[in-house]
Amino acid sequence: MSESSTTKITPSGLPGRRSRISVEKPKNSKQVILRLWKYLSQQKLLLIIVLLLLLINTGATLAGSYLLRPIINKYIIPHNVPGLIKMIFFLLGIYIAGSLASIWQNRLMIAVAQKTVGTIRADLFSKLQSLPVKFFDINSHGDLMSRFTNDIDNVSDSLNTSVLQLFTSTITLVGIFVLMIYISPLLTLVTLIIVPLMLWVASLIIKKSKTFFTTQQVAIGTVNGYVEEMITGQKVVKVFCYEESAAKEFEMINYDLRDKGTQAQFYSGAMMPIIQNLNTINFALTATVGGLLAILKGLDLGGLAAFLQYSRQFGRPVNEISSQYNNLQSALAGAERIFQIMDQIPEIPDADGAIDMTHAKGDVQFNDVTFSYDADKIILKNISFAAKAGQKIALVGSTGAGKTTIMNLLPRFYDIQSGHITIDGIDIKNIQRKSLRRLLAIVLQDTHLFTATVMENIRYGRLAATDEEVIEAATLAGADSFIKRMPKGYQTVLENDGGNLSQGQRQLLNIARATVAKPAILILDEATSSIDTRTEVIIQKGMDALMQGRTSFVIAHRLSTVRNADEIMVLENGEIIERGNHENLLKQKGKYFELYTGQFD
Ligand SMILES: Nc1ncnc2c1ncn2[C@@H]1O[C@H](COP(=O)(O)OP(=O)(O)OP(=O)(O)O)[C@@H](O)[C@H]1O
Ligand SMILES: [Mg+2]
Repeated sequence: MSESSTTKITPSGLPGRRSRISVEKPKNSKQVILRLWKYLSQQKLLLIIVLLLLLINTGATLAGSYLLRPIINKYIIPHNVPGLIKMIFFLLGIYIAGSLASIWQNRLMIAVAQKTVGTIRADLFSKLQSLPVKFFDINSHGDLMSRFTNDIDNVSDSLNTSVLQLFTSTITLVGIFVLMIYISPLLTLVTLIIVPLMLWVASLIIKKSKTFFTTQQVAIGTVNGYVEEMITGQKVVKVFCYEESAAKEFEMINYDLRDKGTQAQFYSGAMMPIIQNLNTINFALTATVGGLLAILKGLDLGGLAAFLQYSRQFGRPVNEISSQYNNLQSALAGAERIFQIMDQIPEIPDADGAIDMTHAKGDVQFNDVTFSYDADKIILKNISFAAKAGQKIALVGSTGAGKTTIMNLLPRFYDIQSGHITIDGIDIKNIQRKSLRRLLAIVLQDTHLFTATVMENIRYGRLAATDEEVIEAATLAGADSFIKRMPKGYQTVLENDGGNLSQGQRQLLNIARATVAKPAILILDEATSSIDTRTEVIIQKGMDALMQGRTSFVIAHRLSTVRNADEIMVLENGEIIERGNHENLLKQKGKYFELYTGQFD
């Protein structure tokens, strides 16, 4: 399968900005439950203990009510006080056992739930790491974050309480039922008249709220996505005075979330009062018929008391099942959104027999390479060139010509549609991705720094590098002097993508990171675009030293920096239109001449 099968999992969501709010299809609950079970069942032993405790707990509740029967019949009616006291202590013992079981059952279940959720989170994270670059191109970061936080929280809450409640209530319901029949089948029949009505109402409400819970989750994802975009882009928002429009847009999606949330909560909240009212009616009916049965058919008073107790309790598990069912729905909706990520196709695995290339001379060749990000628009057409080991190749051309795209292909961020790319004559598809990427170092057009010390950020290029090597690399890249001026020098912690550094300083750190990697092939994509010309001249020596003995690709708009390249390729609309060294290209008086002279006119 090709990477172009990577899909957008985010339901599009910003009204006015994108086309529509799409509602996810009704869930495939069964499959989601099965997958959750796979995670849960890793804690089988604990779950069995929880189940045993649960049985003790519900058994105690049921038995407690049932004991009313002998207490009334055998002790209260015949005035047997010592017996009564004994029974009361017995009852107390049962209730204590029940509560102890309940406390431990909850404790253990929380442990099970947290372990399970921890595993899911770990799996989700490593899945994210395995996904192709394309996935992140097309999915909103906020929505992905929301899957990590909100959806996992929902699953966690639900595992903490809902699942147990659901079990408890079901067992209680069955227990009550059996005991009611045991006491009086006729009276049970009367009680049951109303049950189909209860179930019908419950299922109606559940169906409704299920839809709204799903749409609510989607709306939460949209809100998160929007907020994330506005936070990261706040300077742009401010400078273009977009605050009001942003607030308006936010208001819209916030309304949407509010609506969906209200509907979801309304339906799930409607459940309890309705069921309770039905239950009260039921109780009155049962009490009346039960009284008549006691008078006319000799139903024992203790039995009637226990029965009434049960019929009062009857509504609670029904109610609980339905409300927990709602929680469970939102957890399942969340789980499904998590599994959606897990189902994404990871980067295509290495081909069988792909080699682990630890060293390379650095011959790079593109043979008739055609590439498009999306099937409908070809970006690169028939790109062919050869870079011999150690050469410096420059890529120039107007914005959007495809320079970055060409360089994205070498580390296989994207796979090509046709043609071949080789390193030392070996097709890169036959090289293990990890080892391929280790051969390369890239200074990206958009720099990135992690929340870590300067030292660690540079060492990211090669984890085995010593402190001395890091400092040496930083010196070569011309970053050493400003690093030394930082409060804690190399131990200064950078935060927020190096938010308090200048863009040029960020670039220098990125260059230092590439330097420390000691790669066979070096790619510099506008690596010095934000560095002033004087500093650039100063670090030029370092850069030359860095490129010495490595195949390097330099992308630059500032053509003065690529004059000394072995070969300069001029790219236009995804095609190489001119190539040669600086002097030859100038003589051609073509595009390069235009770009170069235009620059200095
Ligand atoms: N992730 C992507 N998904 C889809 N299309 C893309 C993606 N990245 C770039 N493109 C498209 O590919 C074309 C070439 O982009 P590229 O980034 O290679 O240009 P460039 O030559 O590096 O430009 P610049 O000088 O501005 O950096 C552009 O038309 C752009 O719209
Ligand atoms: Mg670019």
